[in-house]
Amino acid sequence: MSDVKFYSGEQVPLEMHKVRMVQRVYLLPIEERARRMQTAGYNTFLLQNKDIYLDMLTDSGVNAMSENQYASMLQADDSYAGSETYYRLESVLKDMFGMEHFLPAHQGRACEHIIARLLVKPDSVAVMNYHFTTSKAHISAMGGKVEEIIIDEGLKISSDFPFKGNADIEKLREAISRLGKDKISFVRMEAGTNLIGGQPVSMGNMREVSKICRAAGIPLVYDASLLSDNLYFIKVREPEFKDVDIIDITREIGSLMDIVYFSARKLGAARGGGILTSDQNMFLKMREMIPLYEGFLTYGGMSVREMEAMSIGLRESLDMDIINQTPIFVEVLCKELLKNGIPVVTPPGGLGCHVDAKQFCSHLSQDKYPAGALAAAVYMAAGVRGMERGTLSEQRNPDGSETFANLELLRLAFPKRVFTLSQVKYVADRLVWLYNNREMIGGLEFEDEPAVLRFFFGRLKPIGNWPEKLTQQFRKDFGDSL
Ligand code: F0G
Repeated sequence: MSDVKFYSGEQVPLEMHKVRMVQRVYLLPIEERARRMQTAGYNTFLLQNKDIYLDMLTDSGVNAMSENQYASMLQADDSYAGSETYYRLESVLKDMFGMEHFLPAHQGRACEHIIARLLVKPDSVAVMNYHFTTSKAHISAMGGKVEEIIIDEGLKISSDFPFKGNADIEKLREAISRLGKDKISFVRMEAGTNLIGGQPVSMGNMREVSKICRAAGIPLVYDASLLSDNLYFIKVREPEFKDVDIIDITREIGSLMDIVYFSARKLGAARGGGILTSDQNMFLKMREMIPLYEGFLTYGGMSVREMEAMSIGLRESLDMDIINQTPIFVEVLCKELLKNGIPVVTPPGGLGCHVDAKQFCSHLSQDKYPAGALAAAVYMAAGVRGMERGTLSEQRNPDGSETFANLELLRLAFPKRVFTLSQVKYVADRLVWLYNNREMIGGLEFEDEPAVLRFFFGRLKPIGNWPEKLTQQFRKDFGDSL
């Protein structure tokens, strides 16, 4: 781990940045937190940020920006067509991925919409290492299906396998021979595989997948939203790349793919998105859709100020001292929790610490949404907002039955360079308290359930009065403390 800075072997990470602008946050008393959770229908998406002490919902659009990113915003060229800002961004991206064409879109799911319109036909199958909620929703909206080919190790909570996001090559071969090339709309590989705990994909795996797709004539699409974490793991876990420059790793990834897209709310630490390809035909077809769904070609629905910040943020994501911060903090929190017997996804990935709600709340069956209940309990116990990544994040089957998620996870995301180590320790302490009182956490049931992406707006209620009991126990143990 030559590039990673730790303080004198104590395993205390050394941040290679200093904080020059801060946001005041507040910690409400637990009785207030319990009330806010009730008002929010026990769905952390519906909490208001002013009521949250540490917002670990996501790293999307909430990463700390650098002084150079802010400075660049002043140079934004505000023209509807032909903006200099666009050309600067295009040149950074083409250089990074070594691809010919760039199309702007307002965020990651907008890219997914355009790619789905380009490639998905009714009843076709998109084969992927693992789905992401919005990618699957856009494929389904076009009448397509999703088939996952994640390696078996990827779905194990505890493992020491370094690249749990890898596709299973045999499953890929089998899917191609069973479905046939024409039925497969595309193969999608997701960097830093989100829903299984921010787990990386190795270059070795991407090389193999690419070879198979090229031989079969199937387009290979790469979701680079979580690329910066994945680049860090390729450097530290894949020996061949220890001394390879990050930009060269990125260019090799680009060379293996037909389409690369990303959410710049994550990659590039700004807000927006983009699609890259070297395929002239696909480029022209997608280009037609940008003015229709996004905006003119030189802004694609984004603010030019965000595009400038993105150009700098993308360059900064090639710096190991910058991209190592999230994975190291994730590792610190995971280790602290494991030390106290709390089950988390291992090895620690990028994006956030993922607590296994199936084990944490082993007394709750999946139809009682254990990961959602744990997310609500963590907010009540700590004022910390995490995100359910389990059955609530799935969609019901056409017959109305639940799709039980493979993994029931509570994600505690680390926006890049936002939290301090003492805040991380606070999160660990409160989780330990909650773990010691875990039997008190009860289940949830829907009060109001949207048909699509129900986790965003769905409202739930507790089964029984466990939130009151948890609040009373907190007061008994912590006295007047917040
Ligand atoms: N792909 C991946 C892997 C993502 O993590 C996300 C967003 C998207 C696509 C969609 O991008 O939000 O810009 O439209 N993930 C966020 C999260 C929402 O919290 O994990 P978007």
